[in-house]
Amino acid sequence: MIKKDGIGQNAQTAEIVVWGHTYETGIPLIDFQHKELVSLTNHLYRACIMGEDALQTVFKEAMGRMVDYVRFHFTAELKLLEAIHYPEFPNHKKMHETLVGNILEAVKEQKEGKKFVPNNFVRTLRDWVFGHIAIEDRKYSLYVAKQKRLGLLTDQQINSIKV
Ligand SMILES: [Fe+2]
Repeated sequence: MIKKDGIGQNAQTAEIVVWGHTYETGIPLIDFQHKELVSLTNHLYRACIMGEDALQTVFKEAMGRMVDYVRFHFTAELKLLEAIHYPEFPNHKKMHETLVGNILEAVKEQKEGKKFVPNNFVRTLRDWVFGHIAIEDRKYSLYVAKQKRLGLLTDQQINSIKV
């Protein structure tokens, strides 16, 4: 769930995204990693509202972690989707590539000292990542649910996939 503007929230507890049913896929590993993304996004957001000094230290470090984790998670997710023969796999892969490309482009611009507003960046990042989770990841979670209903896939099979 996307939170309204964080004005008035303090830098220790502020959140711009909270975990909600919209993001649930029903696949434990994926839900765990998505929750981790919620936590990293909020951490990044808090770094934004800590003030100028934090931007050079906490924010930079948090941004690196966020980008690394997005890539790590996308790779794991694709391995899983491939293993369960998700029919939309090629499309999903392309969407991940576009997303990572957009994120890296924004990071590059920031490094080059181009106009960069951390708060706006975090909001954009949140919209990209959680928009993808709520819409595109939901599609594969429905596929998984259907396969399970049809007896073509079991939780045990899913949980034994090495990603
Ligand atoms: Fe995805």
